[in-house]
Amino acid sequence: MSDRFHKNPPLRYGMVGGGATSQIGDSHRAALRRDSYYELVAGALDIDAERGLQFGKSLGLKSDRTYQDYQLMVQAESDREDKIHVVGVMTPNSTHYEIAKTFIEAGFHVILEKPITTTTDDALDLIRLAKEKNVLCASMYGYSGYPMIRQARAMVAAGELGDITVVQTEFAHGNCVTAVEKHSEGAAWRNDPKVSGGTFVLADVGTHALHLATFITGQQVREVAADRQSFVSGRVLEDNAHVLLRFEKGAAGYLWASGIAVGHRHGLSIRIYGSLAGIEWHQEHPNQLLFSPLGQTPKILELDSPELHPFAKRLLRVMAGHPEGYFEAFSNVYSDFAEVLLAKLSGETPDPLCLNYPTLEDGAHGVKFLEACIESADNNGCWVNSKLYDSE
Ligand code: NAI
Repeated sequence: MSDRFHKNPPLRYGMVGGGATSQIGDSHRAALRRDSYYELVAGALDIDAERGLQFGKSLGLKSDRTYQDYQLMVQAESDREDKIHVVGVMTPNSTHYEIAKTFIEAGFHVILEKPITTTTDDALDLIRLAKEKNVLCASMYGYSGYPMIRQARAMVAAGELGDITVVQTEFAHGNCVTAVEKHSEGAAWRNDPKVSGGTFVLADVGTHALHLATFITGQQVREVAADRQSFVSGRVLEDNAHVLLRFEKGAAGYLWASGIAVGHRHGLSIRIYGSLAGIEWHQEHPNQLLFSPLGQTPKILELDSPELHPFAKRLLRVMAGHPEGYFEAFSNVYSDFAEVLLAKLSGETPDPLCLNYPTLEDGAHGVKFLEACIESADNNGCWVNSKLYDSE
């Protein structure tokens, strides 16, 4: 990864949301600094303008580029010679569409948190607009940046698992087994249907599990049958959901999203089975991928295993055995996006190994999935179409 060091970061970056009290802001700041592609130069960091201005100061942002709100930021940045190239949007779900749309319309490239919007129509509109304005957008499915997830995707693409038959994916933690929404801003909006988009754990964690499944298999989900419950007294939205999945090339799947799985710490795991082999990955042990080929002893692939594909091998930052993890996965997404954007800005062809960052289309698939799950759960778990495009 040494070729990723730049003495002067080539991309100016602005941030919307991600303020002092935010959960995910710091992960984005760590990700953008890691490989020195980006410099954070501007922000509208908080819904509370004063809190945002103070936080901007503490981050070392200039006062004339710490904005009271994102509209002022778009206007002022558009007028600058040294305007930002990219904006990261990490605000509550219902605000994503308007904020992203405003920046895309002004010609800025966007890294947008998931779920990218609260309706499929809005997600498709962002895709259309990004094409029209010729801007690059990513959706922040950061877990897809783990080297072993890239390895799993490359193994499926190379046919090492054979035909994919069964996919079991889950993101089930126990952090919301009490009414956390009563004393946390972040948990409160996640349980407000108007802000979250009508689901809690399916949107919050389930879409990550879905993205890993589709990213690794290269297959979208055509239909879902969902069942969701709220176990914590007074909670409006679901804190647990089971979803059956039918994939576009015939695989059968299952997704579990939960916030009440006591004993699960972070709980993101995936198992994929094919006609030739099975694989298994757990985010709490991210540098190992269990590979079980038919008729052979299962083996654990590590970051320095000779079997690693170039897509995964290039992400090794330190000698294998050092625990690399969550922040590096986020950085890998940020850095791949930077490489593709820099190639675009200079009219060059990007390195194909960088083309694995999650796109706006990936984000839109997540939103369509959520809408389909809500419809299914509201109709006693019947099968519901979750295709974003007819061709799927
Ligand atoms: P949070 O509630 O902890 O923080 C939200 C931040 O945005 C706060 O600083 C708030 O003041 C600010 N904000 C709200 N409205 C704003 C506006 N209109 N303009 C400027 N700032 C505004 O929320 P959290 O947990 O950081 O989540 C933010 C987004 O990131 C959500 O969409 C969530 O789904 C996503 N997320 C993604 C994760 C991932 O792994 N990719 C993990 C956690 C959250």
